[in-house]
Amino acid sequence: MPKALLFVCLGNICRSPSAEAVMNAVIRKAGDENKFSCDSAGIIGHHEGERADSRMRAHAARRSYDLTSISRQFKYQTDFDKFDLIIGMDDQNISDLQSQARSKADLKKIVKMTDYCSKFTHYNTVPDPYYGGEAGFELVLDLLEDACEGLLNDLNGKL
Ligand code: 4NP
Repeated sequence: MPKALLFVCLGNICRSPSAEAVMNAVIRKAGDENKFSCDSAGIIGHHEGERADSRMRAHAARRSYDLTSISRQFKYQTDFDKFDLIIGMDDQNISDLQSQARSKADLKKIVKMTDYCSKFTHYNTVPDPYYGGEAGFELVLDLLEDACEGLLNDLNGKL
C-alpha cells in the first residue's frame, strides 16, 4: 500500500493544491510513484468544488506544475483513517487539525510543511498568499519546492 499524504491549508485553493502538485512532481522525479499518493483539503469548505485560485495556477504553471485538484473540506471522520500523514501549512492549520483529532494516533499524523525545509529554514509557516501580491505566490512555491524535497527524503529514510 502506498503511503497516503494529505496536504491541508485554510481554503484548499492556493497552498495545499500547490503542495499536492509539487509533491507529485518530486515523487515522479524520484521514480517513487508506487510508494506515495497525494491529496489535499481545506480547513474550511467555503471553496468546495472550485478549481485552485487562478493566480496560484498561473504562478505554478510557470514552473510547469498543473494544479488539477478540486477544493474540498477536511473531514476528520474519514481523513484521519485514510491518510498516513497530514501536513498543515501554518500554525493555525495545525491547531485546527489537532482540535479535530480523535486519538493520540490521529495527533501523531499531523506535521507542519516548513519543518521539512532545508534552504528556507527561517520560515516556520507557508504564508497565506490569498490577499497579497505576486511575490506571495512565488514564495509559496519556493517554500513548497524546498519542503517537498525534504519531506520525500524524510519519508524514504523511514521506509
Ligand atoms: P489557501 O488560501 O488556504 O492557501 O487556499 C486561502 C484561500 C481562501 C481563503 C483563505 C485562504 N478564504 O478565506 O476564502
